[in-house]
Amino acid sequence: MITAPRIDADRVIADLRELAQRTSDEGGAQRVAWTDTWTEARRFLGELLDGVGASLETDEAGNIWARLEGSDANADALVVGSHLDSVPGGGWLDGALGVMAAVGILRAYADTGTPRPLVLVDWADEEGARFGYSLFGSSAFAGALEPGALSGLSDSEGRAMPNVLAEHGIDIERAPECAARREGLDAYLELHIEQGPVMEAEGAKVAAVEGCQGIERHRFTFRGQAAHAGTTPMAMRHDAGLAAALCAVAVSELPDQHGGVATTGELRLEPGISTAVPGVANLTADLRNPRADALVAMLEDARSGAGEAARAHGCEVLEEPVFRIAPTTFDPTLVAHAKSATSDATGRALSITSGALHDAAQVARVMPAAMLFSPSRGGLSHSQEEDTSVEDLETAIEAFGSLVAKVLAS
Ligand code: HGY
Ligand code: MN
Ligand code: MN
Repeated sequence: MITAPRIDADRVIADLRELAQRTSDEGGAQRVAWTDTWTEARRFLGELLDGVGASLETDEAGNIWARLEGSDANADALVVGSHLDSVPGGGWLDGALGVMAAVGILRAYADTGTPRPLVLVDWADEEGARFGYSLFGSSAFAGALEPGALSGLSDSEGRAMPNVLAEHGIDIERAPECAARREGLDAYLELHIEQGPVMEAEGAKVAAVEGCQGIERHRFTFRGQAAHAGTTPMAMRHDAGLAAALCAVAVSELPDQHGGVATTGELRLEPGISTAVPGVANLTADLRNPRADALVAMLEDARSGAGEAARAHGCEVLEEPVFRIAPTTFDPTLVAHAKSATSDATGRALSITSGALHDAAQVARVMPAAMLFSPSRGGLSHSQEEDTSVEDLETAIEAFGSLVAKVLAS
């Protein structure tokens, strides 16, 4: 019987600080997927795993895998991981905490041995920060990726997603082939920061996660008429920018009726200069709700709000889906283990539904999955102010080690 090793939380936190030091600037974390900084982050991961004696493999979607064999070579593997990519100007913990904690797990079991194989994964492009499509690597793994639907996606400089991925050695058409890796893997655990205010308000140091909200993310393109800002009378304008602004307000009001949250985080105007009435406006609406029926209603109302905004300004509006995922419920058995680990670590078994999306939401479609959360100071994330106290990080990392031990022993 292999006794569960203690995870060296101080070393995990030191690795997180080193990662931040290598891949951040005065604006915060810059590990945006498919950039040199993200490549540097993954190079550091490789160095750490060399030290553990686990070799790296990169799959057809760009996910990185590392495997530690167990004493029962025929047993299915337990997977632990998260994502190293960040939003631009992000924090030091979003995703990175889960990957570095997974390194800590492999490092600990490399010394003591493990009854079953342990596999680490760093998912490619969880954030979708550049092209708008979240969970790229885990979607491919879960068989939910349709490369054809991504071929039209481009970044803010107009660079097409397939071409940028090709520069990083990824043929987007072949990305779904990585699903074959599911063979021999039978459960997935992820440690992540909450990225919201609930745990801090509850005074909770660790929480088990019951599931994630669903998302409907759609791009609305308003087409009016570009015109001179000085000579064009207001009554003669077809101002796509104003139509988009009206739509953004309508989107922000959706939760009043349906619950959930709704965000216009992306709004691009063309030609985007102060001396021209915008002829084109691209707005991306991110709608989220834990209830599938309410999410459908939010999307229907967003569509009619966009239509009304377009008509009010003599524009036409086109819509394209960018990303969608149904609400997720994690595996009850793994959630029970997560609650038990939370209770062991803190004396209480708080469990919450995640407001943020995670790779675990996609993985849960093809194997049992669950998560543990660590609190976020001020509930802040996707900003350089993202932070968690060292004490809370240590508690969460040790609780995650306890969860892994419970699942390995089950
Ligand atoms: O969008 C999300 O919720 C995640 O943080 N990428
Ligand atoms: Mn994340
Ligand atoms: Mn994120």
